[in-house]
Amino acid sequence: MIEDMDYHPGETPLDADEMAGLKFSHITTRGELNHLEQANIESGLLWLGSQKMPELLTEHFTRKLHKQLFGEVWQWAGSFRQTEKTIGIDPIQISIQLRLLLNDMQYWVDNGTYVPMEAAVRFHHRLVYIHPFPNGNGRHARIMADAVLGILFDEKTIDWSGGYNMQEMNKRRAQYIDALRTADAGDYGLLFEFVGYQ
Ligand SMILES: Nc1ncnc2c1ncn2[C@@H]1O[C@H](COP(=O)(O)OP(=O)(O)O)[C@@H](O)[C@H]1O
Ligand SMILES: [Mg+2]
Repeated sequence: MIEDMDYHPGETPLDADEMAGLKFSHITTRGELNHLEQANIESGLLWLGSQKMPELLTEHFTRKLHKQLFGEVWQWAGSFRQTEKTIGIDPIQISIQLRLLLNDMQYWVDNGTYVPMEAAVRFHHRLVYIHPFPNGNGRHARIMADAVLGILFDEKTIDWSGGYNMQEMNKRRAQYIDALRTADAGDYGLLFEFVGYQ
């Protein structure tokens, strides 16, 4: 059981079923969990780098990437969330809203609606707003946005962390969460500033 699972603002608590999907029963602290997740993410990133021309903007790829990033730690990795969270839409809407977002993103790529950085930031925000998975949404959606930039646009990826640990509360994470909340209200200014797009 995880003993010190205190949650910071902007983090989604796990319910009992989701906790039950933890593949390592010996874990007792969030620090240990973060470590295991980070190791899994690193192997997931290697997997991503080995993909030739992935069909990024599909539900299949979105879920597959989540599974590659978190599947060694969580049984439910790659499966959509089935419970309501403090962040995110009604779980029965996830599939359709994700499809709309992926279609929009494809349209933005095909038509050059936004410059790549703006498209990636809007995509990132809408993906975390949907919050498809029980956990790992922030990390997954940052990697998805970077994959869009790097693979679909052949552009530099975003320096999300700016040298900070984005899984801990610090001024960088506080700025990020604040920027996402402002974007929830339709104003992307702070989020553009956060990623250095002006
Ligand atoms: N108000 C908000 N609007 C949209 N997204 C948010 C908001 N607050 C937090 N988030 C996103 O949710 C993430 C936390 O969800 P979670 O599934 O726990 O991801 P992770 O485990 O990768 O941190 C944050 O990193 C951020 O990306
Ligand atoms: Mg989390």
